[in-house]
Amino acid sequence: MITSKLPHVGTTIFTRMSQLAAETGALNLSQGFPDFDGPQALRDAVARHIAAGHNQYAPLAGLPALRQQVAAKIARSYGRTVDMDGEVTIAPGATQGIFCAIQTLIRPGDEAIVFDPCYDSYEPSVELAGGRCVHVPLALPDFAIDWQRLADALSPRTRLIVLNSPHNPSGALISRADLDRLAALIRDRDIYLISDEVYEHLVFDGARHASVLAHEELYARAFVVSSFGKTYHVTGWKTGYVVAPPALTAELRKVHQYVSFCGVTPLQWALADYMAEHPEHVEELPAFYQAKRDLFCDLLKDSRFSFQRAPGTYFQLADYSAIRDDLDDVAMAEWLTREHGVATIPVSVFYQEPPKDLRLVRFCFAKREDTLRQAAEKLCAI
Ligand SMILES: Cc1ncc(COP(=O)(O)O)c(C=O)c1O
Repeated sequence: MITSKLPHVGTTIFTRMSQLAAETGALNLSQGFPDFDGPQALRDAVARHIAAGHNQYAPLAGLPALRQQVAAKIARSYGRTVDMDGEVTIAPGATQGIFCAIQTLIRPGDEAIVFDPCYDSYEPSVELAGGRCVHVPLALPDFAIDWQRLADALSPRTRLIVLNSPHNPSGALISRADLDRLAALIRDRDIYLISDEVYEHLVFDGARHASVLAHEELYARAFVVSSFGKTYHVTGWKTGYVVAPPALTAELRKVHQYVSFCGVTPLQWALADYMAEHPEHVEELPAFYQAKRDLFCDLLKDSRFSFQRAPGTYFQLADYSAIRDDLDDVAMAEWLTREHGVATIPVSVFYQEPPKDLRLVRFCFAKREDTLRQAAEKLCAI
């Protein structure tokens, strides 16, 4: 028998809940992907570039035309001028970019601090590099950083802190003041950051995303990761990027070179065209998703779920304790899927040690209006 390098990893809850939704015919508000397509012009551009023969390896760092668009967008959104050649790397998915950044940083025995609830790819990536995750729970009910717990978690072995804002699963945002506080905390330490900003454009109610790209001091030690999949409604394209200062980028590319070498060529061409022709897409995204969040939340107002509207992402958490306080959230997610036809994700799976009385499930509202209406009708009937 082979000895597993990841003995704790099984089939993820995302796969399980999507399977259960398919088996039972439930509406799938579990896994985070839209049930509508990305822009027609973007999809047409892929076909055009395949027909034009753009089908061989892209450069290791990514197509220059796409890196140029990423650099231009960063300048517009965050006021930072990045060097597209020395600081921008296109990755086949944000997950791959995060994996490569973790392999770049983590050595055997190193510790990486992650905030729970936490996206599931960080820990296995740290373990494969020979490191260990130290889990720092975010403070409920707002999923804010607990500064005392973070300070207590720092050790001479801490090599990395992973930030994720807007935050999956809670939708919480890190503020500029949080970034300043973090900078002060790690100023004299040899600690790097990975800032997972895949939901950077899904920020609501007039708030602005506080990107590490806009923070001079933190950017100097950071890998900032984003995902075209989230921004352009094409999660299946698995295309993202990593932005980091030149010395960090040079090391990242050594790893990226042997994990995938490059991203998918015609997708990069299509994204470059679309970004050049439609810079307004990212500007319109907050209103587009806020309308979906508000529709879903307005429809759920008369249900027995309780919730605070998500400040960001395309996820809405809901407390179900008034409905089935007897069920833990995994059992609740299963019950909702089987008995009421709506698949969700239990929040406890994002924790190393979930709070005992956690009664939260996560709905993905990146769905067509009719899907959200049907789901809300079923949820209000419970
Ligand atoms: C917080 C977070 N990071 C990274 C990713 C992965 O992005 P990609 O599909 O581009 O690999 C996701 C996708 O769900 C996510 O929620």
